[in-house]
This record gives sequence, structure tokens and C-alpha cells, in this order.
Amino acid sequence: MINGLPQVEPDGELPDRVTIYEVGPRDGLQNEKSVVASEVKAEFVRRLAAAGLETIETTSFVPPAWVPQLADATEVLAQLGDVGKGPRRPVLVPNERGLDRALEAGVGAVAIFGSATETFARKNLNRTVHESVDMFRPVVARAKDAGLWVRAYVSMCFGDPWEGPVPVEQVVDVCARLMDLGADQLSLGDTIGVGTTGHVRRLLDALDERGLGVDRIGVHFHDTYGQALANTMTALRHGVTVVDASTGGLGGCPYAKSATGNLATEDLVWALDGAGVQTGADLGSLVETSVWMAKQLGRPSPSRVVRALSGSDD
Ligand code: HMG
Ligand code: MG
Repeated sequence: MINGLPQVEPDGELPDRVTIYEVGPRDGLQNEKSVVASEVKAEFVRRLAAAGLETIETTSFVPPAWVPQLADATEVLAQLGDVGKGPRRPVLVPNERGLDRALEAGVGAVAIFGSATETFARKNLNRTVHESVDMFRPVVARAKDAGLWVRAYVSMCFGDPWEGPVPVEQVVDVCARLMDLGADQLSLGDTIGVGTTGHVRRLLDALDERGLGVDRIGVHFHDTYGQALANTMTALRHGVTVVDASTGGLGGCPYAKSATGNLATEDLVWALDGAGVQTGADLGSLVETSVWMAKQLGRPSPSRVVRALSGSDD
């Protein structure tokens, strides 16, 4: 039975409204061992949209050899039709070839994805940080010329599995370089989920000092160490209003083995619903979607809220 909702007690320190940037179909499914059928992926996006999620990252135009799980990006978008189009349906693109494919598919928004560290830039993009910025430059320029909305992710903002701690100044420098290309929004990736609340504040303050205010920033926490919701609430208390989350807590990065699922959208919506913050998302519909998706994937959702509300812990 799915009927639970939190008691609403407004929290005056939080924004009135938060935009959920749903990454389940991309960050979630890129990391699944099995390849999910295109029809199931398209149905997943449709269900998420019907549950009231306005922004949904649908897929990724990277070489199939790099991420076979999302090799069917063109097919998924063809199946989605108008549901996959517009400025609130971004797709990942690493380079001009990816942008060409995305434009052919009719997308209205793209996301480039850089790294705060050299090791992960090499592993995830086969480039140095400098070379990857050069790779993204024409992508952003051409995307803006074509009228697309552009997001810039930066991974390993809070720690790197190979390099360890990542200096805040180094993260800010990469963020500024990518935003200087002309992106509309920055997403701070805690790819391996190691960040804690003071670190979140420190990075947001340092970005602000560099002219990158919270109005242009989203946060992207993986939940490896159980810190994703605490870190998100800290960012919201600091003025951020865009939060990346993945329905059912799916997610990870095939090029960073220590990455696990993203903050579960249901866990976020429970917290925000309870605090009286508007998101537009319907918690019951999200849980039903995760229960359906868990059946497709053959394993239960790691989200605490999904498990509690769907009775899968009984
Ligand atoms: P490369 O091998 O150096 O690429 O990879 P290349 O330019 O040398 O091209 C190699 C071949 O791939 C060529 O084909 C290209 O045409 C083709 P060939 O001539 O050999 O027949 N090719 C493409 N085909 C289709 N689509 C394309 C494309 N590009 C080239 N777009 C590259 C460099 C950047 C492409 C590669 O390293 C790459 O795609 N990496 C992405 C890996 C990835 O998707 N990782 C997961 C997403 S990032 C993430 O999850 C983190 C995030 O969630 C935030 C966080 O949590 O921190 C966003
Ligand atoms: Mg991620």
C-alpha cells in the first residue's frame, strides 16, 4: 500500500520552491549491469514526467563503446517524441560528435561534464582537464547558437578515489573555466559521495566569491556514505534551489567504481514535502514508478522512502 505522506511543518530556512533535476534515466541507467530495453527507458521517463518532475535528464550521447547501457539514446528520444524535447529534457554530450547526434534527435538542452581532478578527467574523458575544456568549448558555443540550454557538471568536487582530498580552489577554478564557456547552470558533483556539510558550505562560499552565485548552481550528491540528503539540505539552506536526484536512488559512474546511487528523489521529496517546500512532484507516483522500475531491473530500490512506503521491508 502506498499512502504515506509526512506531516507538514514549514521550515523557514528553506526556499519556498525547489527544482528537482531528475537524473535517474541517465545517471541511474548508465550504471546498470544489464542493458534496459529502449521501451522501458522511454516508459520510465514518461512516468517521471507524469509524476510531476519538470526537469528530466533523459540519456547520454557518448560513444556506445564507453557506455553501452545508453547506446540507444537516439531510439529512446524517438520513442519519447515531444516528451523528450524542450529546455527541460537535457542529455549528456561530451563532444561535438555527441552534440551533432543530440541535435539530430531534436533535443533542447545539453549537459557537458568536466572533472575537478586530472585522474578522473583522464579516466572518464580520456583527456587532461585542459584538453577537456578545449573539447567542451565548441560544444557550448554551438549549443548556445542553436538556442539550447546548457548545463556544466563538474565531478569529484568533494574528493577523488585516486587523488584523495581535492582542494576547494582547484574545484572553483574548473567550475569557473566551464562556466566561462557560456553554460547556464553549474552542477557540483560529489561523484563518490564523500562530502560533508561544512565542505558544502565552504565550496558554495568560494564559488560565490568567484562570482558564481547560488542562482546558477545545482548540487549532485551520490549517497555512498549516506550524506546526500544532509548535504542537499545544507546547500538549500545556503540558497541553492536546484537539486539533482534519481528516482529510486539509482545511479553511479562506470568510470568511478566507488560511486553508488544518487540521492533518491523520493527521499528528497519526503524531506521537502514535510518542510512545506514546493517541488511539483507527487511522492506516491514516484514510489510506484520505482517499484515498477525495480521489477524491470530485478533488484529492490535502495531508497529508504521507497522501501518504507511500498512495504518492501515487511
Ligand atoms: P575517445 O575514445 O578519446 O574519443 O573518448 P575519440 O574522439 O578519440 O573518438 C573515438 C571513436 O568514438 C571515434 O570513432 C569517434 O567517432 C567516436 P572511430 O573513428 O574510432 O570509429 N565518438 C563518438 N561516437 C558517438 N558519440 C560520441 C562520440 N565521440 C566520439 N559522442 C570521449 C573521448 C569524451 C568521447 C569519451 O571519453 C566519453 O564519452 N566519455 C564519457 C564517459 C561517460 O559517459 N561517463 C559517465 C557520465 S559522467 C558522470 O556520470 C558524472 C556525473 O553524473 C556527475 C557526477 O556524479 O560527478 C555527470
Ligand atoms: Mg553522477
